[in-house]
Amino acid sequence: MTTETTDTALEAYRQQCRERVEQTLDHWLPAPEIPPERLHRAMRYATLEGGKRVRPLLVYASGQALGVAPERLDPPAAAVELIHAYSLVHDDLPAMDDDELRRGRETCHVAFDEATAILVGDALQTLAFRILSADREGQPAAATRLRMIQTLAVASGSRGMAGGQAMDLEATGRELDLAELENMHIHKTGALIHASVRLGCLCAETADPARVHQLEHYAKCIGLAFQVQDDILDVEGDTETLGKTQGKDQASDKVTYPALLGLEESRRMARRLCDDARDSLSGFDHAADPLRWLAGYIVERRH
Ligand code: IPE
Ligand code: IPE
Ligand code: MG
Ligand code: MG
Ligand code: MG
Repeated sequence: MTTETTDTALEAYRQQCRERVEQTLDHWLPAPEIPPERLHRAMRYATLEGGKRVRPLLVYASGQALGVAPERLDPPAAAVELIHAYSLVHDDLPAMDDDELRRGRETCHVAFDEATAILVGDALQTLAFRILSADREGQPAAATRLRMIQTLAVASGSRGMAGGQAMDLEATGRELDLAELENMHIHKTGALIHASVRLGCLCAETADPARVHQLEHYAKCIGLAFQVQDDILDVEGDTETLGKTQGKDQASDKVTYPALLGLEESRRMARRLCDDARDSLSGFDHAADPLRWLAGYIVERRH
């Protein structure tokens, strides 16, 4: 395949995954006219419009690399995006990053109100676990679904994403060394990205453990790379393309990779992590091409 054909094939794959996860989300999110209407409207507002859907794409691409059918991957893809959407709604609250722009629109607490935004986070989080636990035809066995629930719960909780967010708040205005910064990023962002890959692997109930191990390494690398690039874009991106306010990290005295290492070294680091992620896929055939592409996308993206 030429590079152009590969790009077109991947773009089609990406579009297909987006449509699948957005349909699944639309199906599970309560309709806006169901009471309490304001909460349901706000849940849909925070979830359905915009967003790159990187975590669902990782669920689909990891599952595909192990031969799993896409229908089987719809529930974990939607579940991880719901946890992510909830984490953004809470991350933007005045008590946290106090942001007014997200995905090119007003943040949830600005468009609605703070109390509603807190409840949106609560409800999106529980909906994620409801979807994973649902007993439907063609889905993994109950024992596998239980492992998926555990995986997402650990990745979202105080030893994962929420813990990373706590480290972020504690670190604001302080100095961290490189190891502490890496630890914070691995938790606040890496944990959910890692969980996305793990959920895809869990759907392949008979996967070769050596293969899963390689995908785990891939996930670790891109999980960190994703937040390094997020930090870089806060410095060199622009508000319109980002869909969120550029320069907020520096204005809020956040500890970031560019602040600690400088832009050039941060870019080199993101690139190294992407190469390392791709190397870990060397034993996989074309079924892992979307994962290869995603590794590059994560460090080349402009928003
Ligand atoms: C932003 O995540 C928050 C981080 C964890 C860095 P994304 O960049 O994936 O945000 P959306 O989903 O595309 O809006
Ligand atoms: C957010 O990190 C991480 C989570 C939401 C868990 P950031 O605070 O850097 O994300 P943005 O830049 O607001 O999207
Ligand atoms: Mg934050
Ligand atoms: Mg933020
Ligand atoms: Mg950021």
